[in-house]
Parts: sequence; structure tokens; C-alpha cells
Amino acid sequence: MLLSANGKLMNPLDDLFEFLRFPSVSADSRFNSDVDACAAWLTTRLQKIGLEARKYPTPGHPVVVARNEWQSGRKTVLIYGHYDVQPPDPLDLWDSPPFEPVVKADKVFARGATDNKGQILAHILGIESTLKERGDLPVNLIVLVEGEEEIGSPNLEAFLKEHRSALQADVAAVSDTGMVAPGIPTFTYGLRGILCMEVRLRGPAADLHSGIFGGSVTNPATVLSRIVAKLHDDSGRVAIPGFYDRVVSLEGWERDLWSKLPFTEASWLATTGSPRLSGEHGYTFLERVWARPTAEVNGFGSGYQGEGPKTIVPSKARAKLSFRLVPNQDPSELRPVIAEFLKQQCPDSVELEIVYQQEGRPYLVKPDSAFGKAAQKALSKTFTQPVAFIREGGSVPITQSFKDVFGIDTLFLGLALPDCKVHSPNENFAVENFYGGIRLNRHLLDQIAET
Ligand code: BES
Ligand code: MN
Repeated sequence: MLLSANGKLMNPLDDLFEFLRFPSVSADSRFNSDVDACAAWLTTRLQKIGLEARKYPTPGHPVVVARNEWQSGRKTVLIYGHYDVQPPDPLDLWDSPPFEPVVKADKVFARGATDNKGQILAHILGIESTLKERGDLPVNLIVLVEGEEEIGSPNLEAFLKEHRSALQADVAAVSDTGMVAPGIPTFTYGLRGILCMEVRLRGPAADLHSGIFGGSVTNPATVLSRIVAKLHDDSGRVAIPGFYDRVVSLEGWERDLWSKLPFTEASWLATTGSPRLSGEHGYTFLERVWARPTAEVNGFGSGYQGEGPKTIVPSKARAKLSFRLVPNQDPSELRPVIAEFLKQQCPDSVELEIVYQQEGRPYLVKPDSAFGKAAQKALSKTFTQPVAFIREGGSVPITQSFKDVFGIDTLFLGLALPDCKVHSPNENFAVENFYGGIRLNRHLLDQIAET
């Protein structure tokens, strides 16, 4: 229990529940006022702790920044997280409504519970408890919580540059990644990047009778299926020429370390619910996800989707594609490479349009820097087990910008469990990890102060 600003006893879970009730879906403009209200709530919460906090507008969703009173000679730590969440759909697969948090079996169920409200709030409550107990923090602190991570942080790099001197830190810390198993502290030293696009094909000007016209015009759904089928070769590799040009190979020590982790094909199968695992030949499932690039179809549609038959040649077909990238692939370099491939596969009897969506660069850091070691000490003190070293397949697009703009590394101290269902129905956060995150923040700031 913590004391709130007005002296009332506060249960940290009450705070989390308030935070989770905002449907702060960044991707869907119908939620814009909820996103803004969530940022306002967070700003007030940070002010109550005794930090100087402000909500900054951007061309998109607001950024919330808080800081303590800085003293010279102390390390400056930037704690980054996001208050926006993924869309909750499909709603009918949730056991309880996504924005009405509940605790069941020691887990908090709600959209954003793990990704990222629970994890960033744990840091904030850790900071609050240290301030209450000691009246001060051991470091100069910046808390930066954005509202556009789930749409690729399109406005954050410009914000960092605009506020470069106020935000300049020695190191960044982020809890927005995973733990390999409950109770196993996990240090993530690499993330994949991402490049998303929508491919739109147009054949005839409108849907046509497939008996009168079928056979005389190209069906865009057929073309799109052929293009999508050509993205991979039979060995599971992406078949786009030049796609692998800059890929950095996995190192032997990583393969060794990962082969000893508490993941088995059986556990991965169970988590995915897929009938069988598959992927690029020559790599284990962890290697495929953590250190190899991929091409995925995220959405695919054309023609009549309703009940019963409808005999048409559709006018349009579209697919949403995403490419996960690894060091040293660069999304802006790959854009024309992929576009060229798509154009070459497309006959001139349909029109092709490519609409680029979000992107983010991959991230890889040496795990044994002084700050890295401090983070690992904080992790092992918090969870009293040896630290697991991993890379992960997800993306946190802004981290490479922290390196470019401030010249600093990012420490990933994740609290997401393998079965927490981020981005899926019934997302949840283990209550134990929420409290673990609060303790972790205290150890982290102490350890960084000692480096
Ligand atoms: N927390 C995730 C990233 C993540 C997930 C890292 C799992 C490691 C393991 C983050 O909120 C996220 O989902 N990012 C998006 C970024 C994209 C929309 C640009 C992602 O990875 O899909
Ligand atoms: Mn996410």
C-alpha cells in the first residue's frame, strides 16, 4: 500500500484500474478524445508524485513528460513507455470487456494491462515510493510516456529533437518487452524493426458479372494471391531480391544461450495454438523470431465476403503487409526494394498502389556495458534468479532514435509473460509482475546511480 497525495491509503491496483479504463486506442480516430483524456490523467498522476509534469501536443497524440529536480553530478535516466494501446478487436473473443479491468487468477485482464500501462505505471509507482521514503531520487529523472507507439511513433523523433537539451539523458530504460518465464528476470538486448504497407490492386472500374465478363479481364484477387504467394520460397526465406543484403548473422554465443532457455517447441506450440511450427529452414523457432527477418500478411481482402454466393469479378483487392527487420536492415532502404518486387509481379492489366504505413528500425546493443550490468543487477535483485539474455521479435520503434538523437543505449527490462496475450483478446498482466516492476524501478535507479 502507498500513501496518496491526500494522505489516503492507495492500492496500486486501483491506480492501474483507473489507467486501464481509458480506451486510448491510437490507431482509430474515434478514440482521439479518450487518448487525450488518458494523457491528462497520467500528467496529473505524475504531478501528484511531486514531479514536474506536462502534456505536450504533437501533430498526433500528446506526449507526457515528467522530471524531478535535477542536481549536477548525478546520472540522468530517461524512462520511456507508452499510454496508447492496440485496438481491442475482435471484441466477442474477450471474456470480460477490454476497458473494464478485472483481476482473475492473480492477473489483471484489460487491453493495455501489460502493453504498456501496467509496465510503465510500475515504474511510476516505484518512483513514487522512493520519493515518499527518501524524499529524493538517486538520479536525475525524465519520464517520457507517448501516445503513438502502437502506430510507429510517427511524431516522437521530431519531439526528441525539438526538446533535445531538456531530454538529454545518459541512458534510457524501457519495460515493454518480455520475461522468458514467470520469476526469470530477462534482459532484452535486441529487437526487430518493422516496415508496414498496404498493397492495393484495381482491376475493372466496378465489380462485374463473372459470367458476362469473367475470362476477359484480370481478377485483382487472383493477382494479389499470386504476389503474396511469391513473397516466400519453399525453404521459408523471403524471396525478394536484396532483402537479406544487410542482415547481420546470429552469433554462436547467442545460439548457445538461447538453446538453454526454458522455451520448448511444445511450449511455443501451446502458446500459439497453431497445429505445427514452421519457418525459415536452418533456424530454431526462437532464432526465426528473434534474429531473422520475415514477411507477413496482416490482412487480406477482396470481393464478396457476405453470406451465400455472388458471381462477380471484384474491382479491388488489398493486403496489409509487414516486414520484421533485423540489424542492419533499414526500412527506408527496403521500401523501394520491396516496391520494385511487387511491381515486377504485377501484370499491367491491374493497377498497383502501395501505401506505406508505420516503420521502425531494428535495435541491438552490447549487453555488457556498465549500464547494461547495472540493469542486470537490478533485475537479479528484484527476482532473485540469474538473468536470461534474449533478443525479441517485437519492435519499439523509437529506441534507435534515442541512440541517434542522444547517443544513448536503451535498457529493456521487460515484465510481459509468454501467455499475457499482448495485442490479442484477453490481454493480461500478472499482479506479481506489477509489484515486481515497482521493486525493479527502485533497484534500477539505485544501480544506475552507482555506475
Ligand atoms: N511492447 C511491444 C513490442 C514488443 C512486443 C517487444 C513483444 C518485445 C516483445 C510494442 O508495444 C509493440 O507492440 N510495438 C509494435 C510496433 C509497431 C506497431 C510499429 C509492434 O512490435 O508491432
Ligand atoms: Mn504493443
